[in-house]
Amino acid sequence: MYREDLVNTYKNNYNSNDKTGNLKKHITVEFIKKLGKEKSDENFDKLLSLFNQNLAVELKREVVSSIGRQTNMEKIYHFINDNAFNKNYMEVIYQMYRTTLYKSNIDVFDKLREKIEVHYDNEMIYKMRDFYFYKKNRNQKKDSKISNYIYNPTLLKGDSSKTLDRIDNQVVKLIFTSPPYYNARHYSDYFSYKDYLNEMKKVLKQCNRVLEEGRFIIINVSPVITKRPGREFESIRYPIHFDFHKILEETGFSFIDEIIWIKPEATVPNRVGGFLQTKKPLSYKPNCITESLLVYRKNANFLLDENIKRCNHIPFDKNIGIDTNNCWYINPKSDKNHPAVFPEELCEKVLKYYSFPNDIVLDPFAGSGTFGRVAKKMNRIPILCEKNVDYIKLLEAENYDII
Ligand SMILES: C[S@@+](CC[C@H](N)C(=O)[O-])C[C@H]1O[C@@H](n2cnc3c(N)ncnc32)[C@H](O)[C@@H]1O
Repeated sequence: MYREDLVNTYKNNYNSNDKTGNLKKHITVEFIKKLGKEKSDENFDKLLSLFNQNLAVELKREVVSSIGRQTNMEKIYHFINDNAFNKNYMEVIYQMYRTTLYKSNIDVFDKLREKIEVHYDNEMIYKMRDFYFYKKNRNQKKDSKISNYIYNPTLLKGDSSKTLDRIDNQVVKLIFTSPPYYNARHYSDYFSYKDYLNEMKKVLKQCNRVLEEGRFIIINVSPVITKRPGREFESIRYPIHFDFHKILEETGFSFIDEIIWIKPEATVPNRVGGFLQTKKPLSYKPNCITESLLVYRKNANFLLDENIKRCNHIPFDKNIGIDTNNCWYINPKSDKNHPAVFPEELCEKVLKYYSFPNDIVLDPFAGSGTFGRVAKKMNRIPILCEKNVDYIKLLEAENYDII
């Protein structure tokens, strides 16, 4: 009911024919901003009275922002304290919270800020807080841990949850990988799906540590089905990409995008054949021609603009083909040495969109090393991790430093 009220208020404001007076006509963002710039008791009162009107959420937010710009701290404090815990759109509450942040050097505002945090327990409020304090302390903090820099393509042999210990914090600029598909392929074997996710989480923790703040990790996964132990048992289909979302969030990454890799139908296993013969409802199983590329960003208390700014001095190629949407049509690749290799084109796209030349880039589940080969060709410095001795042998022949 409460949300409906708010939505109606919003509609009324937009549909108003203004039969009763002219005030609503004047209430524009610019008008409110002007009131905010001219700091006076009179304007403060006008803003307070505007706040109590049925304004659209955008305008109300602007009113709160303009109140925050006034000079009478006591009045600002009382306004926020009286209104921040009442029913309102969260966008309006965010503005009140923002004001308390920018005045957090004043004790009463700092206490009010904490009260709002506890009251709402809201992720955007926490993000605002972390951004604000990160910016404030930025000049005092320097990461002194980077000592063992990587200059050449490098191979780490063994379980990446351990071998990545040899890589220092934040030296990696991009991670792209295709993890083992639970027990669907013979190169890996786990006691249970839970065990598999726990093992993946250990590797993701390491990935988070070695990746520079704000940079991207991209995981190529799709649902898998494992062989059933007998015809009388139903097989289990695992939606791996859904579960990766959870472990990525738990290890310090935030969701950015899902890119869909689309393959020609003739190249994927035929699941729809049975249905085509009988057409019996419920027996429908479409051919799966897609895989997901989960694009996440390492949590950072600054915007992506900051990551881009840090690379301003690096020349890069502007004459490139560009995918304008999140569906990438790429043929799959087969390989005599490995059952699940990346097509080179997939690696090329990821590298050109999410890294700069000379970046150190990591594949913690390297397999046949496709990502490493493409990365070298594109003047990036790959670090590959692999634990299977057969694949390691092949990689050793490819000119990697082994550490
Ligand atoms: C899906 S394949 C990757 C294939 C790769 N994208 C390619 O183009 O060849 C996953 C690889 O991860 C390896 N692997 C599985 N668990 C690992 C771990 N904990 N540490 C290192 N490698 C692991 C497997 O041996 C397998 O070769």
